[in-house]
Amino acid sequence: MKIAIMGHGVVGSGTAEVFLKNKKNIEAGINAGAEVDLKYVLDVRGAESFPGCEYADKFVKDFDLVLNDPEITVVAELIGGIEPAYTFVKALLAAGKSVVTSNKELVAKKGAELLKIARENNAAFLFEASVGGGIPIIRPLYQCLSADSINEIAGILNGTTNFILTKMFRDNMGFDEALKLAQENGYAERDPSDDVNGIDALRKICILASIIFGKRVNPDNSMVLTEGITKLTREDIAFCEKRGGTAKLIARAVKNGDRVEVSVCPTFVSRDSQLAGVNDVYNAILVRGDATGDVVFYGKGAGKYPTASAVVNDIANALKKSNEASTLYWSEEEQELCQPAVAEICGNIRVFEGL
Ligand code: HSE
Repeated sequence: MKIAIMGHGVVGSGTAEVFLKNKKNIEAGINAGAEVDLKYVLDVRGAESFPGCEYADKFVKDFDLVLNDPEITVVAELIGGIEPAYTFVKALLAAGKSVVTSNKELVAKKGAELLKIARENNAAFLFEASVGGGIPIIRPLYQCLSADSINEIAGILNGTTNFILTKMFRDNMGFDEALKLAQENGYAERDPSDDVNGIDALRKICILASIIFGKRVNPDNSMVLTEGITKLTREDIAFCEKRGGTAKLIARAVKNGDRVEVSVCPTFVSRDSQLAGVNDVYNAILVRGDATGDVVFYGKGAGKYPTASAVVNDIANALKKSNEASTLYWSEEEQELCQPAVAEICGNIRVFEGL
């Protein structure tokens, strides 16, 4: 069983490392006698850009090699962005190869279409690493909580901004210094404005909302409220503290009749909330089910190895060729949205009921 990795950046190199290190565990998890291996690492920069790389012999630059190799059954897309990732993933799924990805933008914008192509070609399209880094959240949503009707999901979905807020308001660090540190740690996007403006968290909440509501929740819908952390001041934090809580960049999707409210913005979080003590690069996702009540998923939301761990787990699941992924699906029909019901606004902070 041969796999390929496309993109050798922070997550791609982490995935290769974790996959090669844990090959034996992956083989044991598939079935006795299975042998898995990494055959290609596709990256336009070539092995020469990664001196000392232990798997330099696997580097290729031609996508068609991966696409047309019948030995390759699972491909990890870790290039990021829409193109060429979208064209590559579409071609691979159409050829019956399973694809796993950490690409939030691709899944949020093209997920419905890619899931459909995967279904039609008996392939899996898995993206656990696209939300919450190393936290299992996608699989629990479509597999473990399917008995519940979920009406609300809210969380800290961007590690970079949570890290910056923690460094600025707990450790008195400046914004630029905190962002630089987040970049050095491999948390931030290639364009960090996607992090600090709330776009990355928006893509992630749209993915989760699409899973739980079954229709495409479009991040470009005009009803979506998106605000990042760049305007937050000490006065905003003081307001939250005085009120008995703290400020977090919260991404939220709530059912409102047949419509859904979607927001990403600096939000008051009560001290009693399980989201209040989530600091540094950690993410937490609160899921409100009608039967199970509140469930919170917590862990490292960004970084090379936590994200690689989720990718490799998806690779192992895709290699198993179980049909468990067939319930991971949402339709291409767009979910109708409405404006988020904000209880109160103070400075740059919004207060929502129940947080
Ligand atoms: N830039 C993202 C974050 C990476 O900081 O959360 C993980 O998706």
